[in-house]
Amino acid sequence: MDALPFSQACENNKAFILEVLLEVFADRREVLEIASGTGQHACHFAAGMPWLRWQPTELAENLRFLLPRCRAYAGANLLPPVALDVRDPAWPLAIPDAMFSANSLHIMAFAAVEQFFAALAEQAGPDVTLVVYGPFNYCGKYTSPSNARFDRWLAQQHPDSAIRDFEAVDRLAAQAGFALRADHDMPANNRLLVWHKPLREQRTPGQVD
Ligand SMILES: C[S@@+](CC[C@H](N)C(=O)[O-])C[C@H]1O[C@@H](n2cnc3c(N)ncnc32)[C@H](O)[C@@H]1O
Repeated sequence: MDALPFSQACENNKAFILEVLLEVFADRREVLEIASGTGQHACHFAAGMPWLRWQPTELAENLRFLLPRCRAYAGANLLPPVALDVRDPAWPLAIPDAMFSANSLHIMAFAAVEQFFAALAEQAGPDVTLVVYGPFNYCGKYTSPSNARFDRWLAQQHPDSAIRDFEAVDRLAAQAGFALRADHDMPANNRLLVWHKPLREQRTPGQVD
């Protein structure tokens, strides 16, 4: 078999991410992954959490990097990859009770990040857990010199790519009905952010029907 598309970063971070997901997704049934890349995360997490169904997705033009590894996966809980661009007004799949995306929000333009959360606001039902992994800035500052260097490198690759401000992303999540549950410090200056959309709308104090 030809060598499968491979990301060293995924290989380095997948065990650390799974350690957190084992708790966060303990009571979840299905995960919709956005921007699945090579499928290393999808296969590792589907194998590590056999009670879950894992739905990988990618931009249509990048599905060719995702399909080979998913086809080689032996278990039954990895669903066939689907083309999904977060900028599409209507996503091709319903949002299940969990979502995951790694290293994607700093690649897509901020307008696409806004569209991602606008889709969640429109299409996510109650009781959905959202996990986002990657580098973030806090209070307008890099969390490390290596993240500052990475951001300069990103800008050279594409002017729209940039490490996002945690506060800006959290604001979009809140507007979509998601409340921050946890912010995990991860190796290599990354974060694992967990939001949850509650079972019922949270009411502001004093609100009446
Ligand atoms: C750095 S890769 C991360 C891939 C994988 N999640 C990982 O951790 O290795 C960023 C991914 O974002 C995807 N992407 C970029 N813009 C997107 C969009 N508008 N909708 C969905 N995926 C997008 C790219 O196709 C690419 O696979």
